[in-house]
Amino acid sequence: MFVLNTWYVAAWSVEVTANPVRRVICKQPIVLYRTPDSAPVALADRCAHRAYPLSTGRTVGDSIECGYHGFAYGPDGVCTRVPAQPAIPARARVRSYPVVEKDGWIWVWTGDAELADVTMVPDTHWMNDPAWATVTHTMLFECRHDLIHDNLLDLTHESFLHKTTVGDDYIYEHGITVEVDGRVVTADRLMPGVQAPPLYARTMAAEGLYDRFHATEFHIPSYHVLHSGITGQGQPREDGYLIKVLNGITPVDEKTTWYYYAFSRNFAVDAAWATDELEAGLATVLQEDADALREQERGMQERPEAEHDVLIAQDAGVAKARRILSRLLAEEQQTDPRAPGTDRSGATSRAASATARS
Ligand code: FES
Ligand SMILES: [Fe+2]
Repeated sequence: MFVLNTWYVAAWSVEVTANPVRRVICKQPIVLYRTPDSAPVALADRCAHRAYPLSTGRTVGDSIECGYHGFAYGPDGVCTRVPAQPAIPARARVRSYPVVEKDGWIWVWTGDAELADVTMVPDTHWMNDPAWATVTHTMLFECRHDLIHDNLLDLTHESFLHKTTVGDDYIYEHGITVEVDGRVVTADRLMPGVQAPPLYARTMAAEGLYDRFHATEFHIPSYHVLHSGITGQGQPREDGYLIKVLNGITPVDEKTTWYYYAFSRNFAVDAAWATDELEAGLATVLQEDADALREQERGMQERPEAEHDVLIAQDAGVAKARRILSRLLAEEQQTDPRAPGTDRSGATSRAASATARS
């Protein structure tokens, strides 16, 4: 169901403090906290003693102490203290997850820790760049993660679902160019000689006709960056009003998905009113998507197994991404990334495929 050998956004940096916080990612309960030197830690949220959630405990120095009988675990998941006796059982340890903090997001690697590769964490620098202003949202979507990936790769839905914000009738009239680079699929649409979208026009102070573009870059399976904006007709995209929409898509379980959203812009960067206006407008856009995908999830559950999607030319990016996602899932099912160290028979092929992808 989920690709595990990858980085998922687990939280915003500001959400992770000395007070433990719980997240469920790909059905794995995880507790996040910070050590006194500010390093983020991710451990299985299940005490080795009697499975009590560690997230209900407290941190003591760089360890986390279970709130039931006081077992303490260090950042590596090894138990460092059993209050009731001096001897610490060898099995008293919890799983420790590789974790990376970058540009305001905490990323967690959910698969085989030996394969965790920090160079696979996507570029999100716009969130942190003073030349850009950023609006953020977080929303729990009541749908499987695949529906969000399809939604972002097929933006013709903007014409119908987001009529008052980012939608315009002309979007679906323009085709897409699809490119694949390893496990990254890009669906690019250019819309020459059109007006700016209603939500952005005021903040861009844009009047008249422009070349509009949006290119969804899907880093399978957990992240999309949408390169969007408008520019003068026939002018390079880099010279225009640019938007980078960063989307961290993190499955909770088969029917629930966290959506971490950052919208960075290179125009009206210091205008607080523009930030307020975009924050409100983009909340509407996200809610429209969340409502639609909740209904689509219901439709998927009601649909007989013999029925399948009817894909059209605009779904070229969707189709390519689905194929890659299926391949990654099949590869992992052969090697079982949840059980590192228990069966090393596939170790060589796992290492080789990780090298090829990185
Ligand atoms: S369940 Fe955690 S110390 Fe007993
Ligand atoms: Fe949408």
